Amino acid sequence: MSKKDDTFDPASGSAPDLQILGDEITLQPSGYVEPQGGAEGKEQALMHQFASFRSEPLQFLREVSLYVSGQGWRAYDRVVGQPVFYPGFSENMKSMVLSAPLLQQRISQLAENRVTVEEKEGLLNKNDKDYAIKRTQRRSVLESSLQEVAEKLTDDMICKMESKTFIRGAYYLVTQLLTRAYHQGIHVSSEEVLRLRKVADIAAKKKQSIVFLPSHRSHVDYVSLQLICYRLGLTLPVVVAGDNLNFPLVGSFLQHAGAMWIRRSFGDDALYTTLVQSYIDTLLQEGYNFECFIEGGRSRTGKLLPPKFGILSFILDSILSGRVEDTIICPVSTQYDKVIETEGYVTELLGVPKKKENLADFLSGGSSVLSLKLGRVDVRFHEPWSLRKFIDDQLTRLPRIPPGLDTDHRNPEVRAVREKILRTMGYKVLGDINAVSVVMPTALIGTVLLTLRGRGVGKQELMRRVEWLTERVRAKGGRVAHFGSAPLSEIVNRGLEVLGKDLVGVVDGLAEPTYYAVDRFQLSFYRNMTIHLFIYEALVSVAMYTKVKQGGGRAMQDISYKELRDHVFFLSSLFRGEFIFSAAGLETNLETTLRGLENDHVVRLDRDPEGNFTTIGLSDQERKAGRENYDFYCFLIWPFIEASWLAAVSLMGLTPPLEEKEDIWIEQTKAQNSAQMLGKTLYHQGDLSYFEAVNKETLKNSYTRFEQDQIVHVVKSKDPKIPPRIQLDPAWRPSRDPETGALRPDGKLWDFTEKMASARREGKNRRDGATVSSRVLRLTDELGRKLFVDAVEGGKDDKGKGKVPSVLSREEKETLRRSVKDARRRRKAEGRPNL
Ligand SMILES: *[C@@H]1O[C@H](CO)[C@@H](O)[C@H](O)[C@H]1NC(C)=O
Ligand SMILES: *[C@@H]1O[C@H](CO)[C@@H](O)[C@H](O)[C@H]1NC(C)=O
Repeated sequence: MSKKDDTFDPASGSAPDLQILGDEITLQPSGYVEPQGGAEGKEQALMHQFASFRSEPLQFLREVSLYVSGQGWRAYDRVVGQPVFYPGFSENMKSMVLSAPLLQQRISQLAENRVTVEEKEGLLNKNDKDYAIKRTQRRSVLESSLQEVAEKLTDDMICKMESKTFIRGAYYLVTQLLTRAYHQGIHVSSEEVLRLRKVADIAAKKKQSIVFLPSHRSHVDYVSLQLICYRLGLTLPVVVAGDNLNFPLVGSFLQHAGAMWIRRSFGDDALYTTLVQSYIDTLLQEGYNFECFIEGGRSRTGKLLPPKFGILSFILDSILSGRVEDTIICPVSTQYDKVIETEGYVTELLGVPKKKENLADFLSGGSSVLSLKLGRVDVRFHEPWSLRKFIDDQLTRLPRIPPGLDTDHRNPEVRAVREKILRTMGYKVLGDINAVSVVMPTALIGTVLLTLRGRGVGKQELMRRVEWLTERVRAKGGRVAHFGSAPLSEIVNRGLEVLGKDLVGVVDGLAEPTYYAVDRFQLSFYRNMTIHLFIYEALVSVAMYTKVKQGGGRAMQDISYKELRDHVFFLSSLFRGEFIFSAAGLETNLETTLRGLENDHVVRLDRDPEGNFTTIGLSDQERKAGRENYDFYCFLIWPFIEASWLAAVSLMGLTPPLEEKEDIWIEQTKAQNSAQMLGKTLYHQGDLSYFEAVNKETLKNSYTRFEQDQIVHVVKSKDPKIPPRIQLDPAWRPSRDPETGALRPDGKLWDFTEKMASARREGKNRRDGATVSSRVLRLTDELGRKLFVDAVEGGKDDKGKGKVPSVLSREEKETLRRSVKDARRRRKAEGRPNL
């Protein structure tokens, strides 16, 4: 998404990698040298950068080798940053947190509130002659019990870096485990690591924290970052972890190695919220390094998830309030040849209920994990930046800074500004992560295999396509993992080996070995890691496809700029929760993309005398080359279109049956499960081309988007036992045949699905549009009716208890009415989403 910097960044092309494998750090000679298309300025920048960069890594490596021979780094004695791992660390921390003025104020405020309540309840008598004394006494009793609660909570929450012996042992143990699974070790870019160390030096002097914000696909993410910091002698960050991982033994191990535990949801526990804030304040004031996952949980689909703002908003508060002067943000990308958890993700996404999180399982599954050959881990560090500077920048862009920005969380204007800063920051971090990410060979192979027209691919052709894709990735400013000077065939072989026979099969006994995708669903995880690089081209290509699909002469297949633009806009808005779009805006992005495609000779752009685009078509050259580029882009995005289409079609089933008089609400998870069932059925009957579209996570995303767009409404009850319920907005409902009661293909929702369908890949049932629609509608309707019957008749859970009401209470109706109004207002204010 990021456009390529003008200055040459050695890390993207020719800076050597460092490979960390157990005790060894080896220098990986620079492999791919980026072709620098002649531009002299660039070449000079390269030479310049290179010289200064060269003088340093040697210095650095010399240092490292000293460490290795002299036991130096293993001792973890002279860290860059604040001292950690000493006895008494936790007690110190605890007393700092507990004495934070913010927390003390909150405790007395809560005690005061409680006394007032007790007064009202008549527990304290105002006419009592000792009233004042009693009141004060009562208050201090309450205060000290709150204090006790706070102490207990703090003790459970904070990270306990107590013992150096422990961390040395832990480092050894974990390295053994990790490098056995990832037998090719952890790779970092020497250039980035040097930069990070420099920043860490300065930050340490200023007593500022480095806040690492890594992407999250695996438990291995935080483990490998801890290992790298240890190995480089940086203060290990305190890692925010959800307390669902806090089981006996393992939990305590993690807490002593860097984890802090935090509840998954805070509810409206004011004490707890303040405690977390005080802890984060303290860490940042004292300059301890910190780490949290901006996506919240692990991404199970391979793509980056939209940012979660929970912990970020605490960090923002620390700075906004001035309690912390500044802190350094470092976005981190962690890429894997193979992610340990993918198999588990796949079962989960296909609707097998999620097992309770268990790290012990993870490790004992480890006996096999240990003998796995998962390839390598590549960790990349974005250039760190000052959060204070970022915030100041944002504030200067505001028409006015609302008063009470740091404290007055109730003020809507303050809330809006804070939300805006958080969003901008979140998306900036994700953009940074994408910008430093490297594409692994497994991702290249997965992408190639899933964008083939045919069933399989020969070895030679596979290599050619991997090479071609590598070039495309580079041209988009992406990076491909370094492999020293290994020849392509070796890299491809390695990738195939890591992916394994369960994902990529090979047919022997043919003229040449031919590879094919065995488990397309799991492979799509790897494809999803590259799609962000090509999202614009892909959207343009499928928008063109709406015409290309109709066949006919070439002129017939052209599309007008206006139509193209409309369609691209429609799709980008559909996918706004799915991809991280650059902030440049629809018009600009579309134009840049079209010009790029024209330069690559993929499309032909016609212009009017004023130079404006009029029509767009496939270029002759592209047609002659068998539409290789164009097909690639379409194949990339088709599964996503299919998934959204499925979600939208499933909504048709939420149309109430004719005989239904009441206003029925359906349990949302049930509706989504039913959508998944619909998807599986359609796939097996040939009306859905991609099995991966039957993905729980993607369906959920689509439902969220439909909710934002007010196509459906979702009501969340105050009662935690009642799950969210959903209803199709009346304006979007299709009609029913008054006699048979069958769903008819009409109405707003149907048009909406048809618009998506126009960009779908033509299935084998092409040309029988009417039958498709009646078949699909009948199925959707059948499943929908079951939902209605179920909702009305019992809505009981498996155990036969806990009735979920199918109609709303008066209060819920009122809440709904208000939230609908709010949503309308918000949509207006937000305006149109970006491409
Ligand atoms: C990759 O993303 C697509 C579209 O969201 C989805 O259908 C697919 O299931 C994803 N793959 C995995 C393994 O989650
Ligand atoms: C061409 O584009 C310019 C600026 O975008 C616009 O003002 C002008 O009306 C366009 N001309 C035509 C013929 O559409």
